[in-house]
Amino acid sequence: MKVLFVCLGNICRSPTAAAVFRHVVGRDAGDLPVEIDSAGTHGYHIGEPPDPRSQAAARRRGIDMRGLRARQVHAGDFEEFDLILAMDRDNLAELKRRCPPRFHGRLRLLLEFAAVADQDVPDPYYGGEAGFEQVLDLVEQASAGLLDELRRLRSP
Ligand code: 4NP
Repeated sequence: MKVLFVCLGNICRSPTAAAVFRHVVGRDAGDLPVEIDSAGTHGYHIGEPPDPRSQAAARRRGIDMRGLRARQVHAGDFEEFDLILAMDRDNLAELKRRCPPRFHGRLRLLLEFAAVADQDVPDPYYGGEAGFEQVLDLVEQASAGLLDELRRLRSP
């Protein structure tokens, strides 16, 4: 099973989600064959490592983001990934515009899997440290629900 996390720039929210979820799968579901990647709807930061503020916040929780590099979503992703999880509604709308209709069922919001009222992960890029902590909090909250969904998809 393949999961793709998608935000705007692929340097803050979606690489954080990918790193956190990889950590959770390794810790709680080593038996589950999951491949995890992330991408941005925009190409501003292609080839760049994650934002140093995201890396520092993740490191404080024991999560390593080194080695990740930003890339943009491309047409082949819609065919390749079983679940494509947008970090907010703007990026979900952009994915829906680009995705062939037969794959629309693969497009979801990450926070559908968390018990939260607002299903957008706020963009931390222009804000302070608290925004980066909030991204981690929200992604962590969604991880258990996402793990359940992957188990359900695997054996319906
Ligand atoms: P991300 O955050 O979508 O969570 O990676 C952003 C990164 C860069 C920009 C915007 C959001 N930017 O405008 O360059």
